[in-house]
Amino acid sequence: MESKWVKPFYNRQFEMFAYLHEYSENYLDWAKEIEQQVNQPFQSVLEIGAGNGHLAKAVASLGKDVTTVELVPDLVDFARQDEPLGVTSICASFYDVDLIDSFDVLLYIDGFGVDGDDEQLYLLKRINQWLKPNGVGLIDIYNPNYWKKAAGQSMYIDPSKSVLRKYDYDQENQRMVDTWWEEGAPDDTYTQTLACYKPNEIESLCDQAGLKIVGWFPGGAMDWDEWKYNPKASLEDCLSYRIKVVKS
Ligand SMILES: C[S@@+](CC[C@H](N)C(=O)[O-])C[C@H]1O[C@@H](n2cnc3c(N)ncnc32)[C@H](O)[C@@H]1O
Repeated sequence: MESKWVKPFYNRQFEMFAYLHEYSENYLDWAKEIEQQVNQPFQSVLEIGAGNGHLAKAVASLGKDVTTVELVPDLVDFARQDEPLGVTSICASFYDVDLIDSFDVLLYIDGFGVDGDDEQLYLLKRINQWLKPNGVGLIDIYNPNYWKKAAGQSMYIDPSKSVLRKYDYDQENQRMVDTWWEEGAPDDTYTQTLACYKPNEIESLCDQAGLKIVGWFPGGAMDWDEWKYNPKASLEDCLSYRIKVVKS
């Protein structure tokens, strides 16, 4: 079900960037922020689209039991190295993974929107099924306002300045488009594209999936005039915002 670009893009991203292999204390800060956003006692966590598994490890270090679902085998192999007690990494697609358990908390941090509305709705319905009756989901949503303005911007991605990226916006399908290439090889590109949703649009999709949004947490935004990243932007201006969902 997943789009063709997904596996090659995230595989290549992981190969290209050493910083994605390094664990930092930031992950613990993000795990604590998640604990605050959940704002009720919890034990079991399902993290989908878990990437390198660092966040899962940080959440487990707070005494939680974390199951992850990640599509790219190399990322899962990496996450399984030094896997602490309390983390179970599953290599599968969140569209068809068979999970018998339900969870207190569902996390989908950075990545919602890989496919179209039908697939996103299908995934939200699965998220609903994975939640325990009083469970809470936290999902990051890309903001169309931000990505429309970002279109046309290009920059180096990595600290060693060997990889460039350019942002575009697909107006018709409301998707941010992020294209990468190594300096000197502009024809050999990798593109990720993610659906963007205004608050009322994601609210309607959640509603159709039997989920109610009970919290909104705006993230940061790049100030393109000052060329500076502001870590706390408004819901209107942020790059992405986190929604907190419960069963409706
Ligand atoms: C933008 S990355 C974010 C990774 C991690 N959550 C983070 O914040 O660093 C999105 C991740 O979702 C994974 N992914 C995409 N489609 C998936 C699917 N159908 N099933 C499981 N994982 C998927 C990708 O392989 C990638 O690792």
